[in-house]
Amino acid sequence: MLATRSLRASGCRSPAVTQPRLALGRGRLEIVCASNAKFFVGGNWKCNGSVASVRKLVDELNSGSVPRGVDIVCAPPFIYIDYVMQHLDKDKYQLAAQNCWIGGNGAYTGEVSAEQLQDFGLPWVILGHSERRSLCGETNQVVAKKTAHALDVGLGVIACVGETLDQRNSGAMFQVLDGQMQALVDEVKDWSKVVIAYEPVWAIGTGVVATPEQAQEVHAYLRRFCQSKLGTSVADQLRIIYGGSVNDANCKELSVQEDIDGFLVGGASLKGSAFVTICNSAGPKAK
Ligand code: PGA
Repeated sequence: MLATRSLRASGCRSPAVTQPRLALGRGRLEIVCASNAKFFVGGNWKCNGSVASVRKLVDELNSGSVPRGVDIVCAPPFIYIDYVMQHLDKDKYQLAAQNCWIGGNGAYTGEVSAEQLQDFGLPWVILGHSERRSLCGETNQVVAKKTAHALDVGLGVIACVGETLDQRNSGAMFQVLDGQMQALVDEVKDWSKVVIAYEPVWAIGTGVVATPEQAQEVHAYLRRFCQSKLGTSVADQLRIIYGGSVNDANCKELSVQEDIDGFLVGGASLKGSAFVTICNSAGPKAK
């Protein structure tokens, strides 16, 4: 069951100069609940790596000790997926692609379909990452249609949402998140294989991680949104993970936030030992 509690935010650290403020300024932080499902840590390798560095990373990950009760999903670039699938320890790690085509196979030069990912044995795909939204023009509707198609084919989807700094500073953050989430709600019928990654764009690759309070605020908001649109049981099960400059030093204080059910990690997922530390930050949330 979802339990609602309030927490005084007065004990929050004062934000650093470059740290965006809490959006609501209400002085209170809402807590909804952690997901009932497993803690989830994704490693988004983005367009990084070489044959040699991927080999090294796979070796580092295989030698790391990670908790069994955490879903850990690595997302290499397409070209390395085959190697990683053959060599990464399947008992510890699952695999994701970083994107897929909006529909089935056909004359779509340069694309990879959800059907092909499924056929190849990948269980997950990341969709709607802010880099694809901003650099490749993917709209909320495109992301939602891709998500629905990938789910129909049988993949699990890590669907990314998040606001830019301008949107946050201008007070449009919740409207932006509503738009991104509503598009998904309109298209997705079965939410059991969806993970929502909240990734504020200003935190991605910048070293400016959201404070635990900022992340908790938005995660609780997103869970409430899902509760109202999809019902309590879906919201209870839904993993809402945080991404944006997560590393081995800041993961613990984020992971203890009630509504944070895991992480999507970029830069730090390229360092085996840092990624393993992040996977271990689940603490008692590992099931
Ligand atoms: P970062 O990237 O951890 O390097 O900020 C996160 C992401 O883009 O998924």
